[in-house]
Amino acid sequence: MTKPNLHNLAGQKSTILILHGPNLNMLGRREPQYYGAETLDSINNRLCNEAAAAGYACTTLQSNSEATLIERVHTAFDDGTAFIIINPAAFTHTSIALRDAFAAVKLPFIEVHLSNVHARESFRHHSYFSDLAVGVICGLGPAGYSYALEHAIDYLKRNQST
Ligand code: DQA
Repeated sequence: MTKPNLHNLAGQKSTILILHGPNLNMLGRREPQYYGAETLDSINNRLCNEAAAAGYACTTLQSNSEATLIERVHTAFDDGTAFIIINPAAFTHTSIALRDAFAAVKLPFIEVHLSNVHARESFRHHSYFSDLAVGVICGLGPAGYSYALEHAIDYLKRNQST
């Protein structure tokens, strides 16, 4: 599933983990008015190509299970993961447990949403993740993931330069 313990030549962590929450496996077929036509595989392939071009490894996981996502965040603590990009999907608005996993591992992360959650139902306006995140991107469709990755690479270059 993932490539553990990837480090670059300087011994620094070099993997960017991309996490996708529930129902995002349905991208391309699910409510295209909100989430567009691109599939999750296509988004993941593009992100991993972009990461590789910048010299970073990329691993991806989509799960409909809160426990699987929590355990993957725990694993990221010491498997060489330097940065996480996550679309927590509906868990954004419900999961204190997944939030606590991010608080526990203290890895930098960006929260991404395909749709503009603030222009939708009021229950989507609150996120359990945003105050812990390096930043939040929403409403820019699949391009939002690439913008997040660009920032993650920049962040790692700045913070791993010594
Ligand atoms: C979402 C927004 C969430 O409110 C929703 O539950 C999702 C997807 C988005 O990408 O726009 O499943 O995170």
